[in-house]
Amino acid sequence: MKERLQELKEEALGKVESAQNLKEVNDVRVAYLGKKGPITEVLRGMGKLSAEERPVIGSLANEVREEIASQIAAKQARLEEEEVERQLASETIDVTLPGRPVKTGNHHPLTAVIEEMEDLFLGMGYSIAEGPEVEKDYYNFEALNLPKGHPARDMQDTFYITEDTLLRTHTSSVQARTMVACEGEGPVKIICPGKVYRRDNDDATHSHQFTQIEGLVVDKDIRMSDLKGTLEVFAKKMFGEEREIRLRPSFFPFTEPSVEVDVSCFKCSGKGCNVCKTTGWIEILGAGMVHPNVLEMAGFDSKEYQGFAFGIGAERIAMLRYGIEDIREFYTNDVRFTTQFKRA
Ligand code: DAH
Repeated sequence: MKERLQELKEEALGKVESAQNLKEVNDVRVAYLGKKGPITEVLRGMGKLSAEERPVIGSLANEVREEIASQIAAKQARLEEEEVERQLASETIDVTLPGRPVKTGNHHPLTAVIEEMEDLFLGMGYSIAEGPEVEKDYYNFEALNLPKGHPARDMQDTFYITEDTLLRTHTSSVQARTMVACEGEGPVKIICPGKVYRRDNDDATHSHQFTQIEGLVVDKDIRMSDLKGTLEVFAKKMFGEEREIRLRPSFFPFTEPSVEVDVSCFKCSGKGCNVCKTTGWIEILGAGMVHPNVLEMAGFDSKEYQGFAFGIGAERIAMLRYGIEDIREFYTNDVRFTTQFKRA
């Protein structure tokens, strides 16, 4: 029996030694140390042994088992370690490889231009006011010196919801609201960016919905020169330091006098080109001194207070700035278009 155990031990250790992977090691364990294995069988046959031989063989069998088991454990550990090493070697990371660029979103060109204008006016001490897009006829027209039946209402084709409710045709409605909220106490210094609506047929330069930025300043001793200076800063910021502006007489019912404001052409610097239609000037906004009727209707004493106001078309500014030729590009949201513009 001793010899048989020795033989089994050598056999088993030899197989452990030559095992190539964890599965083979495990096979050896099952084959030699399992319940049906040859060592168990030897132990079972011990009944036939004499009393002296029994403990000798018994302890030898245990030694053999332990030896095999410890060799198996050692081999397993070695194989596992090798496996880890192999993995590490095959998975080395080349930290010098350039990374994959992460795609980031960007501002919509209209948002970019609006935020730029907001920054400019916030820097000049204005606050940002808001008002509803579904507006009362009163704030959109009446309080702006445009009573019902006034012919100038036809300047802005209106989406009416009821007789007294409409989609605001301009952000000037927020002027009226802001002044009323101030209860006759100045100063007022606000801009209001927002969506406006007109019953226009959409084409390259018209949209039934577009964006305006309204400006309003009401205080004591406000003059036309304050308006001009403010708009000059605005024009230079948006179109370049070398730009000049000119004011042309115009008409809006809510301002007196009213002006249309042109900026000297940023493409040809006044020589005449396709952008300025050979005039050297580009119209950018409407403005004026707040009409005394408008001040009075909102509760301001027009002898004490004066104001100026302006209305800027945000799409128009963005189109000029970026050379965009079709206003509809802003609303169709084709990312090939919207990702071309970087916020200044
Ligand atoms: N509300 C005018 C429009 O939509 C623009 C405008 C002109 C606004 C003169 C003003 C202003 O505040 O003073 O065409």
